[in-house]
Amino acid sequence: LNKILPQAINNKKQKRHDLILVIGSTSFLGRYTCEMLLKRKLDFSCLVRSSSSLDALYSLSRKHERDIGFVYGDLRDMDSLHRALDGIESVIYLVRLEYRDLLDNLISAAKRRGIGRVLFISSTTVLVPAENDLKREKMESEEAVRRSGLDYTILRPSMIYGDKDDNNFSRMVSFIKRRGFFVTFGNGSNLIQPVYVEDAARAIVDCLDNPLTYKKSYEVSGAAPLSYSEMLKTVRKKLGKDFRTFRLPLSISEAALWVLNRISKKPILHPDQVRRMRFDKTYDITAARKDFSYEPVTFEEGIERLIQRMQK
Ligand SMILES: NC(=O)c1ccc[n+]([C@@H]2O[C@H](COP(=O)([O-])OP(=O)(O)OC[C@H]3O[C@@H](n4cnc5c(N)ncnc54)[C@H](OP(=O)(O)O)[C@@H]3O)[C@@H](O)[C@H]2O)c1
Repeated sequence: LNKILPQAINNKKQKRHDLILVIGSTSFLGRYTCEMLLKRKLDFSCLVRSSSSLDALYSLSRKHERDIGFVYGDLRDMDSLHRALDGIESVIYLVRLEYRDLLDNLISAAKRRGIGRVLFISSTTVLVPAENDLKREKMESEEAVRRSGLDYTILRPSMIYGDKDDNNFSRMVSFIKRRGFFVTFGNGSNLIQPVYVEDAARAIVDCLDNPLTYKKSYEVSGAAPLSYSEMLKTVRKKLGKDFRTFRLPLSISEAALWVLNRISKKPILHPDQVRRMRFDKTYDITAARKDFSYEPVTFEEGIERLIQRMQK
């Protein structure tokens, strides 16, 4: 444990990477956050498990010709957590907040080691106007962060998209390209405000050393809301390909998916995902604009970048 892995760039003299620790670096948002740190030439380490796949991080390290420090550990193993936090000034925590035991371990270790600054990534799920278990768990976790006494910032990204691994729009684009049609739920008037992954990553790095953001929570979404129908129109325009759209009524779809989820081992959608389409998902980024000059791209720009990345 606590072993520094061989660096992607073979540097004989071991550099210190001990001011910023990224936990959850192998996640989709984590990788982009690491890339943003590399672009800003900030030294950092990543807490990784022995089972973590590091290929993407090694390739980022090579691309930017900068080392990334790796420290083996696990949030479930307090000893390894203490060792990883040794010498650290700030932590970027990109593990789902609802994993409460992991969060509690991190808070307790950070407090014991006197680390004030921890940036937590929650989600706009806490703002949906409907009650569900996930929302309740995330809200309770956010409350634990607020009670922690740490100099925390909570960032709440909306749905994140931006490359082939985003599990959101990339899946939609691949489906349309393959099949030439798309299936939607409801009449398409519901509003969404997804965030382009590089904007979310930039927000994280911009907040890190910004005392204005201490002990505050921010919504981190796209520049402006757009309706589901407008979103499809933009995808059609940017793909340069026409496709048919089949609209299914919300309540029938929810019921059908509920049944499918009972019988299928690998259901394509959860009924909750359709239920959430009943609500407008719009967010207020005024505070983020004011405190850390957050200026996200429009959906049109973001989806264009996603499509270009997928073509590469
Ligand atoms: N994706 C979205 O649309 C979206 C939207 C809003 C907010 N977010 C937030 O973005 C963050 C990342 O989300 P994600 O869905 O990309 O996460 P994810 O795929 O579930 O990845 C979680 C990360 O946590 C690490 N991890 C899990 N258990 C660990 C443990 N016991 N010890 C150490 N590390 C551990 C994983 O490392 P391994 O590689 O070892 O598994 C991985 O790097 C989360 O905070 C999430 O709430 C995501």
